[in-house]
Amino acid sequence: MKALILAGGKGTRLRPLTHTMAKQLVPVANKPVLHFVMEQIAEADIKEVGMIISPETGEQIQASIGAGDKWGVNTTYIMQDKPAGLAHAVKTARDFLGDAPFLMFLGDNLIQGGVKELVAQFNAGECDASILLKEVTNPSAFGVAVIDSEQHVQQLIEKPKNPPSNLALVGVYLFSPLIHEAIDRIKPSWRGELEITDAIQELLNMGHKVTARQLTGWWLDTGKKDDILEANRVVLDEYASTRVLGSVDEKSQVAGRVQAGAGSEIIESVIRGPVVIGENCRIIRSFIGPFTAVGNGSILEDVNIEHSVILDRCELRQVPRLEDSLIGTGAKVGKKNSEHKALHLFLGDDAEVIL
Ligand code: TTP
Repeated sequence: MKALILAGGKGTRLRPLTHTMAKQLVPVANKPVLHFVMEQIAEADIKEVGMIISPETGEQIQASIGAGDKWGVNTTYIMQDKPAGLAHAVKTARDFLGDAPFLMFLGDNLIQGGVKELVAQFNAGECDASILLKEVTNPSAFGVAVIDSEQHVQQLIEKPKNPPSNLALVGVYLFSPLIHEAIDRIKPSWRGELEITDAIQELLNMGHKVTARQLTGWWLDTGKKDDILEANRVVLDEYASTRVLGSVDEKSQVAGRVQAGAGSEIIESVIRGPVVIGENCRIIRSFIGPFTAVGNGSILEDVNIEHSVILDRCELRQVPRLEDSLIGTGAKVGKKNSEHKALHLFLGDDAEVIL
């Protein structure tokens, strides 16, 4: 069994962050989403990983993952010259995959409990593909499956106007090498992409067996800003522990599960977990409320913040109340000491400010 991680794509819905950063590297609870994916693949005892990368962000992904030693896996990078669809990514990886069965994992997806059991069941069974489904309230936004009482897939439809079920395809799939034959038979969809749902439907049309498993735990697709905030909330809620390595002065209060990295200073502040603060941060006269992650080297002075993700090396000063915010690397947010009440903005392309 091999794994294919899709870490290419455009990430348009996460601009402006993705003007400079691969979306799979956006941190959740201070850890890049792609690192969670690598952990879950290693847990499933898969040793050979193919990583689909794009010309725009491939270097960053390679710098972050390297050869995969940290997770005990061997990583091969595969360049996809344009984001022409999930099935196109599989086609691009054809040489790497050979005739091996494989797990395909979207590099911006996280699932509770990992994929170990799913992989073991696929290896023990005799089906040609296995998909993971999750009940959703807005199935029209997803690939949707119709299944029978024995969990066999009958039909798959990409973003249906009138959804025949509320079971959406989660970004984790298991395939036998027959999928390559199916991909060779499909044509690009109306949006010009080779769709994996069409390829799986083609497997069904060819008379092969596709089974489904339903996920009861959470599934996080980190494609948009609010998804990142939700992922940060869920992951902090589940995994945050108490580990304060930096210094906390006697005028500060740290309550609940709070992590603070080496070299960080908490001065005259209140931190109420679950919160994670990176290394070498300075938190001065501030309140950091639940579900907040602060990246390495950031400074917060006279700030009141909660339910937010602050990336590395940010400077936030005199911000009376900040919520539901996602602030990119090196950004500065602050108040000017003057009588003049006008806003002073210097924003990157596609930035969003809500007043
Ligand atoms: P998507 O979120 O569907 O696509 P995207 O990354 O281009 O994002 P947006 O819609 O905001 O522009 O992709 C799911 C995952 O698969 C993501 O990790 C990127 C990856 N991917 C590829 O590697 N190659 C592709 O051709 C496509 C479409 C996606």
